Formats: sequence, structure tokens, C-alpha cells
Amino acid sequence: MLDKIKDLVDKVQQYKADSAENLEQFRLKFLSKKGEIGQLFDEFRTVPAEMKKQVGAEINKLKQLAQQKYDETLSALENTVSDDCKHDLTRPGEAFELGTRHPISLVKNEIVDIFNRIGFTVAEGPEVEDDWHVFSAMNFPIEHPARDMQDTFFVEKASSEPNPHDILLRTHTSSVQSRIMENAQPPIRMIFPGRVFRNEAISARAHCIFHQVEGLYVAENVSFADLKQTLLYFAKEMFGPDTKIRLRPSYFPFTEPSAEMDVSCSICGGKGCNICKGTGWLEILGCGMVDPNVLRASGIDPEVYSGFAFGMGVERIAMLKYQVRDLRLYFENDVRFLKQFKSAY
Ligand code: DAH
Repeated sequence: MLDKIKDLVDKVQQYKADSAENLEQFRLKFLSKKGEIGQLFDEFRTVPAEMKKQVGAEINKLKQLAQQKYDETLSALENTVSDDCKHDLTRPGEAFELGTRHPISLVKNEIVDIFNRIGFTVAEGPEVEDDWHVFSAMNFPIEHPARDMQDTFFVEKASSEPNPHDILLRTHTSSVQSRIMENAQPPIRMIFPGRVFRNEAISARAHCIFHQVEGLYVAENVSFADLKQTLLYFAKEMFGPDTKIRLRPSYFPFTEPSAEMDVSCSICGGKGCNICKGTGWLEILGCGMVDPNVLRASGIDPEVYSGFAFGMGVERIAMLKYQVRDLRLYFENDVRFLKQFKSAY
């Protein structure tokens, strides 16, 4: 019996299992119930009692050896692509998943593209700014509530009093206006996309980080009519050729006169629906004629030049475009959400 086992050990070791068929034959020959090892277990009953321990151990070793050879060969075969597969040109290709741009990037790129077409170039400014560029140069009175600790994230603050040297996270991209104007003379026709920060509790309708696109045009004889025509062009390009705009008087420290712009609701065409709360209009941006104080603070002569400016929230436009009204979704970056956005931008 021991000789027979030894003989089988040799046979198992020498067996060449190099294909799925060979391996199956190996399994039938050695490992199946009626295979050679299975028979040994049957014969084991006839082994004299004093030999049982030794013979049993040898049979177990043989069985383990065969099982190990089987397992190893199987995983080796699984890891090699058979020649048939390699050369089968009719097999479907492996899908290659392409990423998509973030919806906020798509909308921002579309806004930038629209203004590029009418001669606006792009510039960016720092997110960590000083009080001067965010507030003081933008004609914010010292006691203006937007300077309050409630709204602004301060990085370095000299005292509880506002100071143009305080360092903070910019609360709007209007700060880039003053950065550009202190270094360039008109004509200036630019847009400034970027991220802004406000100390707000996060909810479906508000977030402490969001995105804006600021626009600035300063030259000789720039009028409110130029502003209106530029924004009408933007609204039609962004929301469709039938879009109408209306300008409502408003207040911003850095523009005089100031206005807020509404576009006719692209969902109901102006008839009134729950998106526009029955009014037929959607508010999308703030704008106005650059205040002479702002020009002066950045070294531009308001006697010679005039300008218009506007600022819009990218999330706000994305909400209207995609009907996704919970702001938090734009920041969570759940791929199931992001995957839905595909566009040329
Ligand atoms: N900075 C304003 C805000 O964050 C938006 C704005 C309003 C920008 C009017 C402008 C403007 O340039 O003229 O709410």
C-alpha cells in the first residue's frame, strides 16, 4: 500500500496540467470520488490496525499534494489569457470610462466663453485678500455690515476695528476689479471668475464657499446703455434667444447707479411657475456703473473714464440651468450626481 502511494505521489508530481482540459482530466483521475486517491481511501479499510496511522498520514499528504497542484494550476490558467481570446477580434472592447467636468466648471466655462466672444479677457485674483481690495478700495464705508466678522472669514486682524491691512478670505470677486485697475489703464474689458467665501451656515440655499464671475468694462464714454446691451447679449446666449431682461434699481457700495438684473423664467417662458415663484422672472446678477470713488482709489481718473461692472453667482445660474436646487450637491462630489453632467464645455 505504501508503495502504491509513493507511486501515485510521483504520478501527481509529473502530471502536466497545462490547459483547462488537462486539468479536468487530472481532477477526474486523482481527486474525484472514484479517482485513484478516492480508491485508496476505500482500500484503507483493509490496512492492518498497526499500519493505519502511517498509511493514513501518507494518503492525506498525497491528497493535499494533488489538491495543491490542482489549485495552483487553476489560478495560473485563470490569469493567462488563452491564445483563442487574444486573437478573437470580434470580442467586444473593454469600456473606457471618461470623466466629466463638474457642473460648476461647465457653467463657469460657458459664461467665460460667452463674454470672450464679445472681447472680454479673463483674469484671476487671490482668494486670500486684504481688506483694501475687498472692501476699502471698493468704497465700502467703514461701518458697512459686510465687513462684520459674521460675514467674513478673517485670517489676520489687527484689532476689532476694520483696517485696510486686515487679511481675509475674499467675500466677492469684485476685489479683482481693484487689483486690475491699480495695474492697468483703460480700456479694460475683463471678467474675473473665482471662488468666494462667506461665514454662512450651510443649508440647501446657502454655502460658505461658492463661485462668482465678475465683469468690468472701463473706457471713455461707457454708458448704462452699454451695460444693458452687454447683459442682454449674455442672457440670450445663456438662456436662449427669446430671453428678456429687466433691471431693478438696487444698491452696492461700488456702483452708482446700481441695479439687479432678472431674466424671464426659461422654465415657464415668463408665464409664472414654482421656479420663478409665479413672477415670470428670475434674479441672476448685480450690476451698475463703477462708482467714481472706486476708479479714483485704483488710480484711474473718473473725469476721463467711466465704466460698468457686474457680478453673478455661478451656483445660482447652475441651479436655473440644471434645476438642481440643493447647493450642497455641488460640493459633495458624489460621482452619481456628477456623472449626469455632460456638455461641450
Ligand atoms: N459683489 C456683489 C456680490 O457679491 C455682486 C456685484 C454687484 C458685483 C454689483 C458687481 C456689481 O460688480 O456691479 O453680491
